[in-house]
Amino acid sequence: MNKPVTEFDVFAAFRDGFPALKKWTYMDVAARGVLSNETRAALDAHLDDRMMNGGDKDRFFALIEQARSRFAQLINAEPDEVTYAKNISEGLNMVATGIQWKSGDNVVLCPELEHPNNVYVWLNLQRLGVEVRMVKPRDNHIPVDEMIARMDARTRCATVSTVTFAPGFRTDVDTLGKVCRERGVLLLVDAAQSAGKLHTDVKHSNIDALVVSTQKGLLGLYGMGFLYVRRAWAEQMQPAYLARFGVDLGDAHEAALGDLSFKLAAGARRFDLGNYNFAATAAVDASMKQLLDLGTGGTNGIEQYVTRLVHALAQGYLDMGVPVAGGKPGPHLAGIVTIGNMTANHYGSDDVRFNGLYKHLGDNQVKLSIRRGLLRFSLHAYNNMDDVNHVLALSRAFLKK
Ligand SMILES: Cc1ncc(COP(=O)(O)O)c(C=O)c1O
Repeated sequence: MNKPVTEFDVFAAFRDGFPALKKWTYMDVAARGVLSNETRAALDAHLDDRMMNGGDKDRFFALIEQARSRFAQLINAEPDEVTYAKNISEGLNMVATGIQWKSGDNVVLCPELEHPNNVYVWLNLQRLGVEVRMVKPRDNHIPVDEMIARMDARTRCATVSTVTFAPGFRTDVDTLGKVCRERGVLLLVDAAQSAGKLHTDVKHSNIDALVVSTQKGLLGLYGMGFLYVRRAWAEQMQPAYLARFGVDLGDAHEAALGDLSFKLAAGARRFDLGNYNFAATAAVDASMKQLLDLGTGGTNGIEQYVTRLVHALAQGYLDMGVPVAGGKPGPHLAGIVTIGNMTANHYGSDDVRFNGLYKHLGDNQVKLSIRRGLLRFSLHAYNNMDDVNHVLALSRAFLKK
């Protein structure tokens, strides 16, 4: 009789498929993930086919629909609500330019905790008379209650990161989503730091639009992203760019020019443009399949597993007397632990000890980043408790000196 498969076995087998983890203690998915053997094999197969056969367009389009459905499944959306983008910036801009703004309308956000790519897109709309309403962070969190307080009858959109890139705290998207839905405000989330790692349910959280790039938690390549737009919103939107795949021509050939009085494609498909990044799609399709197959708890299982690891890492640093952003581990933690003091500097800490620790960890094959002066450890389902204990042991030895 086979031994029952435990959660430990499932995550250990998943980890085995990532050769980089034999070389690195890899805690840098917030910058970019590493590729699995399966993802690399899918990419190689695509390139081999291109090299030896030129490729088969029907199969490429089938791949696009398969990956669209997989991403929809990952966030509990419908395939027609998903379109392709080249990165987060593009997805955000597709939404921002798709809304039919009137001068005097406003958008609400907390720029100090957003990635700059979710700030400039809105500043660029000021030329249309759009007011950018900015709220201040509270305790380094995005204060959704304050965002709600700043919303009024002219608010068309509220936007937040699901998890900030630094200090890496989770945003209370559900509370904001509920109010946005009641008031007909479009809730747009930047899921760079959560997709693939945290359980995401756009229906449950009342998210109207969500953008992600594929090189982080989705464990794919750079230069590709997905944009989800809830059908009811997508169908009120006019894409700023339009091309053949954004037009509904039934089953007509990709080169067909239909009736010149064109009809936009259903849902978010109206944002599809020309040919897709088939290579990056082959990669992320394989990695999303792995994530969806992981464990019995699906993405909930991944979130619980990663949460246990980051809680142990945060607690380990606190026990050493190291300042951990957010203090005691709790629901604010979501796959990221940051230590040190928050500043505006992305190149180093203001404390020589932490710069030394960063170098020491790097010298010992630990991959992490510095963002806003903080040492940032970001974990995924391929990490394990040995990684956590190893980083804590290295840190303890260094800081004792
Ligand atoms: C929260 C967040 N948004 C956006 C980005 C990047 O945007 P883009 O995909 O457009 O490069 C990052 C990280 O690189 C991020 O952490």
